[in-house]
Amino acid sequence: MILKLKIFRFDPEKDTEPYYQTYEVDADPMDRLLDCLNRIRWEQDPTLSFRMSCGHGVCGSDGMRINGICGLACQKLVKDFNEEVLIEPLPVLAVVKDLVVDFEPFLEKYNSIKPYLIAKAAPPDRERTQSPDEQHVFEAAIRCILCACCTASCPVNQDKETASYVGPAALVRAFRYLFDSRDEGAEERMALLDQKDGAWGCQTLGWCTKVCPKEIPVTKEIGQIKKRLYDSKHK
Ligand code: SF4
Ligand code: FES
Repeated sequence: MILKLKIFRFDPEKDTEPYYQTYEVDADPMDRLLDCLNRIRWEQDPTLSFRMSCGHGVCGSDGMRINGICGLACQKLVKDFNEEVLIEPLPVLAVVKDLVVDFEPFLEKYNSIKPYLIAKAAPPDRERTQSPDEQHVFEAAIRCILCACCTASCPVNQDKETASYVGPAALVRAFRYLFDSRDEGAEERMALLDQKDGAWGCQTLGWCTKVCPKEIPVTKEIGQIKKRLYDSKHK
């Protein structure tokens, strides 16, 4: 089938305004949109810029807005679209060129919640152990590949007035450590999360959960963080 891809274009070195360019690709229904983008870049227009690496939903680099919904181009099959697909960069993050966005502000927020195990006791001779049940608590959160689809889809992050909200991706990682039986940094982590722009910035709108390509129950995990914050003050 012939698939038309209407793609957002902007090169800050030569364009004053963004514009859309439509390409046609002779695609197999089982091709992924990422295959179509690669074919455009290899066969039609080497100036088209987008990120990709693994091609299999693992690296998180090809997040983009596809027909208005954020997702990974490597996980979308041609057969699931009509003859034209609108492809735009992730919202919220500034465009660097075409579909490439600036991840720095996203990573700054991610780093702000201390995304690492905080262990105060001296390390044991071997590893820090935990039971399968203890690991199961945060197992889903480990699947996060930092694609930013959730944060870019969040209406709170999209609103300039509330854009300083730390965002769902950072909160998923905060959940991952807050509920890890080996972590001893709960007090300092909770102080960071117990803020208007921290976990309380979430308005439970659920877009994060809808778009997450790893099917992480993002809204539910943020709710569990809020409950833990609430319980810590109302014991
Ligand atoms: Fe991507 Fe899901 Fe992680 Fe958000 S929680 S960054 S949507 S993998
Ligand atoms: Fe790696 Fe899509 S290219 S997640």
